[in-house]
Amino acid sequence: FTHITAAPADAIFKTKADYAAYNNKNKMNLGIGAYRTNEGKPYPLKVVKKAEALILNDKSLNKEYLPITGDKEFTRLAARLVLGNSVDLNKVASTQSISGTGALRLGAEFCSKFLSGKTAYFSNPTWGNHFGVFKEANIKTAKYTYWDPKTRGLDFAGFVNDLNKAPNGSIFVFHACAHNPTGVDPTNEQWQQIATIMKRKGHFPFFDTAYQGFASGSLDNDAYSIRYFAKQGFEMIITQSFAKNLGLYNERVGGFHIVCQNQQKAKDLLTRVAKIVRPMYSNPPAHGALIVKRILKSSQLFNEWNEEMSGMSNRIIKMRALLKNALVRLKTPGTWDHIVSQIGMFSFTGLSPQQCRVMKSKHHVYLLESGRISMSGINTNNVEYLAKAIDDVVRNVQ
Ligand code: LMR
Repeated sequence: FTHITAAPADAIFKTKADYAAYNNKNKMNLGIGAYRTNEGKPYPLKVVKKAEALILNDKSLNKEYLPITGDKEFTRLAARLVLGNSVDLNKVASTQSISGTGALRLGAEFCSKFLSGKTAYFSNPTWGNHFGVFKEANIKTAKYTYWDPKTRGLDFAGFVNDLNKAPNGSIFVFHACAHNPTGVDPTNEQWQQIATIMKRKGHFPFFDTAYQGFASGSLDNDAYSIRYFAKQGFEMIITQSFAKNLGLYNERVGGFHIVCQNQQKAKDLLTRVAKIVRPMYSNPPAHGALIVKRILKSSQLFNEWNEEMSGMSNRIIKMRALLKNALVRLKTPGTWDHIVSQIGMFSFTGLSPQQCRVMKSKHHVYLLESGRISMSGINTNNVEYLAKAIDDVVRNVQ
């Protein structure tokens, strides 16, 4: 193996490891997007624990292989959750996936095999792993304008311009809600305009949904973009994760959905997806899907989940207000309204890479060098400390 050298570390997981390795009582983990309580602890949802207890006592369960495309009841319920009544689910080819990243990997392979020659466009910036996943599938990637550093919001005119400029029939990857890393989403009216241009240009929509219900606290509001496109009759791909909204990070459970024009096409495409899955990982694991199924099938558990989810999303919204107010009180140079107008797990602070490095080395605040912070690492005990650290780097570091 003399010819093999070490690979560069993954920025998000390295930040998590750096945080874990450092010993300091003030340290803050604002890197990886994983929910924390106000005490800074991981939060296994109570409803998940309940579902697991039911599974443990269910004598009818066994450890047989699942079908290649996963548990059919699970995939149907997962498709219903994201698509609502926007489309006949018989027209949707649904596969259980290894969480959101596994769904993206299936989507990228599918595009590589059946939409070959097309370029996949991603928002600038996007979740770093998007490019990794599509590169593995040998798809040409490009960026579309998204973030406006001046307003710290959406550059909608630039976005529209890039939709219009891209060659007809390009693949556009969208974050359905709670854009990662910026926390900036198009409004419903803007999604409608995007759909109109996508139709005219014959572009192919590819929706990545990792935060349904987690962003606004409402599963329906957070699915608006996807359901609107489905109602307009688009063929499209949806990649779905249950990591954040059910706190099932390490269960790796998600859905991969292809919305088709008719039932026969959906049946045919599912056989094609099975051909991608079988040599890749054969078939999916069952436990995460069993949990999701239990919760989606029972109206009582479903309601309990919704309550817990809005608890998580409200806590984050409160932390946004506390952080902004603390920065305003400190008279930290600049405007900080974007902290409260952004949505979901992350805030794109606008801090420079050098400022982020000093946040880490001097203040022991672990964040990504892009300036992204995970809002879930903030709580009532550390928000003032964070505001003071931001204040220091904004005043003293370029
Ligand atoms: C993140 O962006 O921090 C999360 O989605 C975790 C990951 O896998 O990168």
